[in-house]
Amino acid sequence: MYKVAILISGTGSNMESVLNYESVNKDKFKVTKVIANKEAKGIDIAKSKGYEAFVLNKKELGQEKYDELLFNSLDDVDIIVLAGYLAILDKKLVEKFSGRIINIHPSLLPKFGGKGMYGLNVHKAVVDAKEEFSGCTVHLVDEGVDTGEILIQKQVRVLKNDTAESLQKRILKNEHIAIVEGLEILIDRMEN
Ligand code: GRF
Repeated sequence: MYKVAILISGTGSNMESVLNYESVNKDKFKVTKVIANKEAKGIDIAKSKGYEAFVLNKKELGQEKYDELLFNSLDDVDIIVLAGYLAILDKKLVEKFSGRIINIHPSLLPKFGGKGMYGLNVHKAVVDAKEEFSGCTVHLVDEGVDTGEILIQKQVRVLKNDTAESLQKRILKNEHIAIVEGLEILIDRMEN
């Protein structure tokens, strides 16, 4: 039974999707903690569902103290899921959990990924570029930004009258499925 930590920075809808899936699939993994790098609605949601959930406030702690506390807080887990987590992980953590950290990104990587490409910025860029398709990607986290091996992608057609907001809404629904499927793919790999 793999122990999973979920890192968030905001609403936590992707985190919620993993928690909901776990509640009906108790045999593969157990989410043992949810950590946010700043005050986040997702922390309240996780707590209300009975999970250990807390904030390590990066701004208040400073980068070094934050990295140290985060590293120690993740000492007893097997897998890390970044679900709308907007900070960059310390190199030491990425090395320790090499091949065992997944991230969900709201585009078809490698397109529209990298520094500054998060949240609505991604969908704005896709709409401005008049892309026919967009979607989401679950990938392994390496030392780059949005550059690790891709585990699964879900394609979403960009409609003529799409705004960044309308596209974001449709893609988010697909993210909720992709994040769980990506976690399952990782677990299957770790089991075999
Ligand atoms: C999602 O679009 C995710 O792809 C991106 O940030 C957003 C977070 O959504 N990284 P939520 O906090 O999971 O609702």
